[in-house]
Amino acid sequence: DLSDRIAAAETEAALEEVRVHALGKKGVVSERMKTLGKMSPEERQQMGPALNGLKARIGEAIAARKAMLEEAALEARLASEKVDITLPVRPEAKGKIHPVTQVFEEMAAIFADMGFEIREGPEIEDDFHNFTALNFPPDHPARETHDTFFFNEKEDGSRKLLRTHTSPVQIRTMMTEKPPLRIIVPGRVYRCDSDQTHTPMFHQVEGLVIDRETHMGHLKGTLEAFIKAFFEIDEVTTRLRPHHFPFTEPSAEMDVGYERVGGELRIGQGERWMEILGCGMVHPNVLKACGLDPDEYQGFAFGMGVDRLAMLKYGIPDLRDMFASDARWLEHYGFDP
Ligand code: PHE
Repeated sequence: DLSDRIAAAETEAALEEVRVHALGKKGVVSERMKTLGKMSPEERQQMGPALNGLKARIGEAIAARKAMLEEAALEARLASEKVDITLPVRPEAKGKIHPVTQVFEEMAAIFADMGFEIREGPEIEDDFHNFTALNFPPDHPARETHDTFFFNEKEDGSRKLLRTHTSPVQIRTMMTEKPPLRIIVPGRVYRCDSDQTHTPMFHQVEGLVIDRETHMGHLKGTLEAFIKAFFEIDEVTTRLRPHHFPFTEPSAEMDVGYERVGGELRIGQGERWMEILGCGMVHPNVLKACGLDPDEYQGFAFGMGVDRLAMLKYGIPDLRDMFASDARWLEHYGFDP
């Protein structure tokens, strides 16, 4: 009847009870073992092995039952944990790509087709890379026009700053790499300025080409090719309007023609002009500051505001909303990954 009880144990706990009842210190087998001492040697010789055999058989039966119960438990668990792949998926909130990121990527792809590589630089810059090597004269008001965020002065009198443009990466690249160079530099820049059309942090893409016999025709052609690809238009009218930057000579701002048809803004052609970027031929002093011989190498550079380009292309009305971290705004203006 012990074997019946073993077979009837439905859980490991029940089986353990049977084991204690049979083989425990005060179990039925143990109690019978104790009687061996009072037996005659002949009796003991017969009963000893018999009891030991019994004990072994019970142990085996319990172990076998235990293995069975364990297997059954495992099977039950596997069955209950099975994933039903035919169930419809639960809707999951998905993030969106910020328009600035989207436009960075579009620009990188367009310029990559023209052979440009991407370079990046630090947002915390020093005076040398942000101003001096870019031919800003010392103590010149041009430095003021950038409304620079400065860090505290260090003991040696120098002070770091938040880069006011991506142009310092021109310097970093020319000082570490050999021409020919064709790079674009996407990144954040900072100016102490805040109103409807300015935020203290904004984004630029810088472009730099250094090669032999590079001229303004290359500059204009490159930028027009970019504008057509970016705005997905076949024709574009542009104008280079003379301007001043310390690091380019000649310098210009590029305007694109546009018109309004109904409420819609059409970029590419039209009676009106919109300024979209600054550009020019790299100033000989900048080349020299980077160890390049201006008689051997020339180049052009340009810098454009990415936030404005994103707003123009995707009809985003307010610049400041771009950086307000409002998830509803991003849900509306963002892009699917
Ligand atoms: N760095 C200039 C700016 O931030 C733009 C620029 C870049 C102009 C390169 C000319 C050449 O306004």
